[in-house]
Amino acid sequence: MAVQINPSILSADFARLADEARAVEGADWLHVDVMDNHFVPNLTLGVPIVESLARATDIPLDCHLMIEAPDRWAPQYVEAGASSVTFHVEAAAAPVRLAREIRAKGARASMALKPATPIEPYEDLLPELDMLLIMTVEPGFGGQAFLDIMLPKIRRTRELIGKHGLELWLQVDGGVSDATIERCAEAGADVFVAGSAVYGADDPAAAVRALRTKSEA
Ligand code: DX5
Ligand code: ZN
Repeated sequence: MAVQINPSILSADFARLADEARAVEGADWLHVDVMDNHFVPNLTLGVPIVESLARATDIPLDCHLMIEAPDRWAPQYVEAGASSVTFHVEAAAAPVRLAREIRAKGARASMALKPATPIEPYEDLLPELDMLLIMTVEPGFGGQAFLDIMLPKIRRTRELIGKHGLELWLQVDGGVSDATIERCAEAGADVFVAGSAVYGADDPAAAVRALRTKSEA
């Protein structure tokens, strides 16, 4: 699969989200960080804004739920128009049931791991997922430094995906930039979330193109 670049609107201007979506023309997905001030110590946006954003842009929405009780909330994000919904395994009561429900509602199902959460206990769940997200910072804030110590986990996850012959996408999120994307790609990631590296740039669309070129190098 070709690599995918997903700008994170966490670093965008929340009062101008429709314009900010247009500013990253050429991006594959728009990454939408939902935070509830419980699972992470920060608060962002919820279902009504996702609904409006889905109407305002043609770029498919990749919703990253950093919230408690994703079993209750995730299906509502599919109904709001998200094409991919990621829940954290640390917060999910029944990850297999939840992944099946997301898929049944017509979206891609994805599961995220915080930096200290290993992949190995979840090997048997991989066939239930369309994407696995390996956090490369502690979730909660944009602009943090990339955690190099996550590279072996990315590598091991790519091996597990290969071992089971799965089509699963492998996403990385946190500190992804010009300086780190090659290392992530080399370790086996193929979907790259970038917040500050895209929306902090003078020309966000050019930043997306530059990240794509680097990741394919
Ligand atoms: C962090 C969020 C990320 C964030 C990444 O908890 O999940 O999606 O926007 O921001 P950068 O790319 O600036 O590290
Ligand atoms: Zn995110």
